[in-house]
Amino acid sequence: MKKTILTGIRPTGNLHLGHYFGAVKNWLKLQNEYETNIEIADVQALTDNFDNPSKVRKNVYELAIDLLSCGINPEKATLYIQSQISEIAELTVFYSNLVTMARLYRNPTVKSEITQKKALFGNSGESVTYGFVGYPVSQAADITAFNGDLIPVGEDQLPLIEQCREIVRKFNNIYGETLKEPDALLSTSPRIKGLDGNEKMGKSLGNAIYLCDNEETISKKIMSAVTDTNKIRKDDPAEPEKCMVFYYHKLIENPNLDTVCSECKKGARGCVSCKKELINNMNKFLEPIREKRKYYEKNPEIVESILKKGTEEAKQKAKVTMKKVKKAMMIEY
Ligand code: TRP
Repeated sequence: MKKTILTGIRPTGNLHLGHYFGAVKNWLKLQNEYETNIEIADVQALTDNFDNPSKVRKNVYELAIDLLSCGINPEKATLYIQSQISEIAELTVFYSNLVTMARLYRNPTVKSEITQKKALFGNSGESVTYGFVGYPVSQAADITAFNGDLIPVGEDQLPLIEQCREIVRKFNNIYGETLKEPDALLSTSPRIKGLDGNEKMGKSLGNAIYLCDNEETISKKIMSAVTDTNKIRKDDPAEPEKCMVFYYHKLIENPNLDTVCSECKKGARGCVSCKKELINNMNKFLEPIREKRKYYEKNPEIVESILKKGTEEAKQKAKVTMKKVKKAMMIEY
C-alpha cells in the first residue's frame, strides 16, 4: 500500500519561484511515489479574505493552472477544491470541541500571524476572527479527512501539524482508535530570497518572480535586482554571495556558474551583462511552464474538468473517514 501525502495551498495569488523551489518541485517528485492529494485551500484563504470572495475564486483557477503548468499530473495527484468537500467543514466542527482557545492562541504559527496582522491593521486584537484563530482545527480536518500519513510542509507549518496530532490523539482517546496521526515531511529546500535581497520572496513584499511573468516583466525585474552594493564600476571586483543575480543564476542552475562566479570576483563581468545572461536563462527556465499555461488558458474547460474529477475523487475519500468518525462519535443515524 502506498502511503498518502496530503498537502494544501491557499489560492491568494499566482505562484512564484519561492513556491516552486520551496514546495511544488518536491510535489512533482512525490506524486510519483505516493498517493498524493493536493488541496486548493479556498476556505482557509477566506479566513483572511472573507470580504473578498472574488479574489479567492479567481485564484482557485489561477492556482490550478499554475500547478498543472508546473507538471502536477491529475492522473497521479488528486487536485481538489477544499470548499467542495463538506466533510472537511463537518470534521472542523467536531474537532473544535477538542481544542482549547488557550492552545490555539499559543500555536506559534497563529501567534506570529496575529502579530503580523496587528502590525498591519493596528493593535485592535478584535480584528482577529474566530475563523482565523481556529484555522489550525480546519487544517487538522484537511489532513485527517484523507488519512494523510505524510504532510509535506515548510518549517513555519510544523506547529499546525503538531496541533493536528494532538487533536487526533484526543479524538482517539475519547472516541476510540479512529484517526491516523500524520507526520510532517519537512521540506529540505531553503527559503527562496526575494529580488531585493530579503530572506523571503513574497507577494506582499513586492520582490517576487512569478511563474507567469512574461519576458518583458522578467527583464524589468531582473534589471532591478539587488547586486553587491560595493561594486560601482563595471570592472570592480565583487562578491557573488552578496548578489541576488548570482543567487538566481545558482537557483536555476546556470551551467556556467563557475565562470559567472570567477569573472564576478575578478571584476571581469559587468552587472548589466550578468543580468542579461540571467534574463535569458530565466526565460528559458519559465518557457515550458508558460507554454502549458497558454494551453490551459485557451482551454478553461479542461481545467474545470480536472478540478471536477479531482474534487469528486476527494469527496469519496473523505466520505470514508466521515463514516468512521460519526460512528465513533455515536452520531450516525
Ligand atoms: N496552511 C498551509 C499554508 O498556508 C496551506 C494548507 C491548507 C495545508 N491545508 C493544508 C498544508 C493541509 C498542509 C496540509 O501554506
